[in-house]
Amino acid sequence: MKTAIVFYSMSGNVRWTAEKIAEMTDGDLIELKCVREFPDKGFRKFFWGGKSAVMKEKPELQPYSFDGNKYDHIILGSPVWASNIAPPLRTFISENGNLLKNKTVSAFVCMSGAGGQKALEKLSDIISLKKTMILIDPKDRQKAENEEKIREFSII
Ligand SMILES: Cc1cc2nc3c(=O)[nH]c(=O)nc-3n(C[C@H](O)[C@H](O)[C@H](O)COP(=O)(O)O)c2cc1C
Repeated sequence: MKTAIVFYSMSGNVRWTAEKIAEMTDGDLIELKCVREFPDKGFRKFFWGGKSAVMKEKPELQPYSFDGNKYDHIILGSPVWASNIAPPLRTFISENGNLLKNKTVSAFVCMSGAGGQKALEKLSDIISLKKTMILIDPKDRQKAENEEKIREFSII
């Protein structure tokens, strides 16, 4: 059983979670980065990211290496942006949609307060999900129970 964790992270919470999952499953990490990164400071950070997420934009990604046929379980990870998944993950899904349809796919999101359930529901509209998980800023607000939650989510 080989697991891939495909994720986008702006400020490290999703990356922190993806790395935990990789440790627990001996999985491969595939980090998505945009050709033109989103602003990560001040008002522009929330304005441009939020707008892009609501508009369901698909920004161009830097080249990434993903051979989907190698994996039995593909886990997608994203921050919640304006109750949506982050746009880079949307690009990834549109570029790999046919392959993902024939795989077991799960998804987790990190958020600071609310909107995770909505983001996952919208994601479920475009791809069928085996398991889902929502964490609250797990790197910045460490909680003992997150470890067990991540373990339970990661194993299928
Ligand atoms: C553009 C933008 C929009 C966001 N929208 C939401 C939101 O709707 N709900 C929420 O709870 N957190 C929201 N957040 C906070 C992030 O989802 C949260 O801090 C997440 O853990 C960040 O993951 P990262 O550190 O991997 O980037 C938003 C952050 C950004 C930058």
